[in-house]
Parts: sequence; structure tokens; C-alpha cells
Amino acid sequence: MNIASDFKVQRPAFLSEHPKELFIDGKWTPAISGETFETINPSNGQVLARIAAGAAPDVAMAASAARRAFEGPWSHFTPYERQACILKLADLVDRHFDELSLLDSLEMGAPLSRLRANSHKRAIGRLRFYAGLATAIHGQTIENSASREMFTYTAREPIGVVGAIIPWNAPLTSAIWKIGPALATGCTVVLKPAEQASLSCLRLAELIIEAGVPSGVVNVITGFGESAGAALAQHADVDKIAFTGSHFVGQKIIQASAGNLKRVTLELGGKSPDIVFADADLDKAVMGAAMGVFGNTGQVCCAGTRLFVERSIYDEFIARVAKFGSDLVVGDGLDPKTQIGPVVSKEQLDRILSYIQIGLDEGATTLSGGKRMLDAPLANGYFLPPTVFGSVKDDMRIVREEIFGPVVCAIPFDTMDEVERRANATPFGLGSGIWTRDVKKVHRLAKSIKAGSVWVNCYNVMDPAVPFGGNKLSGYGREGGVEHVDDYLNTKSVWINYN
Ligand code: NAI
Ligand code: MG
Repeated sequence: MNIASDFKVQRPAFLSEHPKELFIDGKWTPAISGETFETINPSNGQVLARIAAGAAPDVAMAASAARRAFEGPWSHFTPYERQACILKLADLVDRHFDELSLLDSLEMGAPLSRLRANSHKRAIGRLRFYAGLATAIHGQTIENSASREMFTYTAREPIGVVGAIIPWNAPLTSAIWKIGPALATGCTVVLKPAEQASLSCLRLAELIIEAGVPSGVVNVITGFGESAGAALAQHADVDKIAFTGSHFVGQKIIQASAGNLKRVTLELGGKSPDIVFADADLDKAVMGAAMGVFGNTGQVCCAGTRLFVERSIYDEFIARVAKFGSDLVVGDGLDPKTQIGPVVSKEQLDRILSYIQIGLDEGATTLSGGKRMLDAPLANGYFLPPTVFGSVKDDMRIVREEIFGPVVCAIPFDTMDEVERRANATPFGLGSGIWTRDVKKVHRLAKSIKAGSVWVNCYNVMDPAVPFGGNKLSGYGREGGVEHVDDYLNTKSVWINYN
């Protein structure tokens, strides 16, 4: 495929025809400062567009638009009407998915073919799931012992204005994971996309209006974390922050939220263990473990980056994972042959390369990958091949810290007790994997692993009905599952004395 000519054909109308301004109260609005920043295609280093750089005054405007909508038109929508809007939005996202996925692929590099398969299902599935929840929110009647002539019930009320701050690794589906529960419960939103990937969120904002959601219910403030993001986390009239990103920023969000004691939910990073026993179906385990860490170029919060392999099969298994990784086609996100796209930015590439150097300096060895791909046609993009580290020790930084690239540490183990202890020896607790045919090992580890998700003979499977989230430094709160909406609701207890 000739990517250059195909790029012209595929250049979405949104890039040339729409302003890339802030979306406040249903209108495109330049940043008050007038400042903009470049967004770059990581497959070739070219500038895609200039985007408005929102900051504190813009966040304040968006928060007051969200407050007005929350107290005004949106509060009159019945659950059934909110459900109808979300279902219409699901249809619109479906109809415009080629465009939305193209924007994400161009801006953060994910292979278009993968987005159009997996992310399509994820985006639409999530919206339809939250549509269902919109008509399933209810309180309780409670028999109390205070008085025989007092009736008590609870009502579930939307929490108010939600600040949603998301990263760049899955822009559209991350935005939907915050906006879906807000629309289901009757909350309003100020969304701050990552500075590396704003375009699909801006297009989504237009579709939300087209779906019949009133102006001001969903506002989008593009811009940098330190300015726009920090202002949102701090704003006194924002009731909750739903954050996905690094644990460093998660900690700052908690500090910034203290002024008005915002509700906070945090979906943060990880260093997830993926454990392969000798009795596993090794063909499935090789592919599952490899894609569990190389998929989305390793830019996945729950990636299985610590690959524990039983010693009797260690050499053969990691050679197969290294070969599987080396055989994956790395390339431009738009190329239909591409299985692994670039990493999102030059900054992220340098960060991953510095981790690879740290690993080598600490005495680890690479079995595959490890060097930036600089041959044409990839030379101007930020490409790094799947990289497998062997000879690692548990105290090395590459084993302890989140790298967020296509890099896995392969670690041999001998006994169940040992792998149980080492798998949990991390400050994170997001994902985990177990590959075995032995039901005893499955149950023992599924119970003892300290993580939000345990995948057995599979990895990184998601469904809107199944909760996802972390423990420890991986954060708190769950996205997906019926409990997700609890974090967007307050409970009110009503006492009626009829004596
Ligand atoms: P980040 O955590 O800095 O950015 C995530 C979001 O938070 C972005 O929208 C950003 O603008 C915003 N943000 C940044 N500083 C903020 C602040 N002070 N207040 C409010 N919002 C703020 O992640 P970044 O810089 O993109 O990536 C750095 C590293 O973080 C990655 O290499 C990776 O290790 C980790 N990360 C993990 C993610 C995960 O899902 N586990 C997602 C993104 C990054
Ligand atoms: Mg950052």
C-alpha cells in the first residue's frame, strides 16, 4: 500500500472542515488565551492539526456551563429520555466509526484494522450497556426501628458536574467510559482529553449534541495536564474527578481535589504478572502472553509486563514469545498489514528507550527488539519493535516500574509459593494472568493474586458488564459493571413521620 497517497484519500473531513477549538455549552470556542498547540501523527512525525490550549479560565467557563445544564434542561430528562439519547449516540458512533477510528489512528498510532474490530465493539457495547443502566437506577425502602410510624426510603441522585481526565492510549473508548455513566445517571461532564490525542473526543462532542443531549451536558477542554487538567481537578464547583492515567498524576489529583472534597475515582497503571505453568496449552499461552503485552504497542494499563514462566519450559517459551513478537508487522497505523503501530510520541519513545538502557545497565539482556526502527519508511515515526528482556532480577527498575511500551520482562520460577509471592511483590494491582490446565492452581492463584482482574487462559478480555479497575497504586473505583454508576450517584435517605 502506498501510505502517502492513501493518507490523502483517508484524510478525514474533520481535520480540514472543523475548528479544533474548545467545546463549551454546545459551541466551538477558542481558548481565552488564544493559544494553540500541535498534534502530531506518530507514524510519520507530521503535524496533523493545531488544537486550542485550554487553561483555568476556560475550565471555569466549561464548569459553569456544565452546572447550568445539570440544574437546568438536563435535570428534566426522565431516565427513559436519557436512555434514548445514549442509544442514539451509540448509533451515531457506529455510523461514524470509520471517521472516529481514523482520527484515533492518525493521532496516537493504533492500527486502524484493530480499532475497527476491537474498539468498535467496545465503544458501542459500552454505550448500550449504560443506556440499559439509565432505567435501572433505584433506591430502597427500609424498615426502620426508630418509630413504627416512620417510613424511610433512599433516593439515588446524580452527583453533579464530573471532571473526566483521560490518557491517549485509547481516546474514544476511554472518553465513552466516563461519559456513558454520566449520561446514564444525569450528571454533566467537563472532559479533558490527553494533549497527544484530542480529535476523536472533539468529534464525539458534536455527535453527543446530534444525539439530542442538551448543550452544556458534555464540554471538552483540550490542553495540557499541568494547566487545563490541574485546573479541572482543583475547580471548586466540580463534584467528582474520574481519572485514567499515571499514578503520579493520580496522586496530584487527590491533592488538588481536597479543596472541595471531590469524589475521585482513579484508573491507574500497573506492572501486571502473567504466569505460565508448564501444563498450559502453550500455543495459546505464547500468543496470549505476547499480545497481552505487545498489543497497542504495550500502551495498555493492564499489560502483562512481568511474564513468569515455569523453569522447565522457560527457555523454549520465551524464545517463542520473542519470535512471535519479532514476526508481528510493525508499521503505520493506516497500513492494513500493520499489527503494531508506533508509540504515541517522541517523548514516550525516549522514555521507553531510556528504560531499555536502564535494563541493560542493570545487567538484563534483550532476546529481541530493543532498538528504535530507523529504516525507511518508518524513520520519521516513533517505532519500536516488541522487546523481550531475560536475565532480569526482581529488584531491577524495569521489573518494578511501568514502562508503557512493547517491553516484557521474562522471569523463570520453580514453585507455586514462590510465584505467588513474587507476583504480588509490586506496589500495583491492576491485571494478572494465569495459564494452566490445573484447576487447583487456577483457584489458588485467582484468590491470592492482589489485582482487580485475573484472566485465566486468556488476557485483557473486556466486557461492559464486567467491572475493571485496580487496587493499591493502580487506583480505586471500577469502570464497567453495574457498580460503575454508583460513583456517579449520591444516596439520599428520606424519613417520613406519619404519626
Ligand atoms: P499522565 O498521567 O501525565 O496523563 C494522563 C492525563 O492526565 C492527560 O490527560 C494529562 O494531560 C493529564 N494530566 C497530566 N498532569 C496533570 C495534572 N497535574 N492534573 C490533572 N491532569 C493532569 O500520563 P502521560 O504523561 O501521558 O504518560 C506518562 C506515563 O504515565 C506513561 O509512560 C505511563 O507509564 C503512564 N500512563 C499510564 C496510563 C495507564 O492507563 N496506565 C495512561 C497514560 C500514562
Ligand atoms: Mg504527564
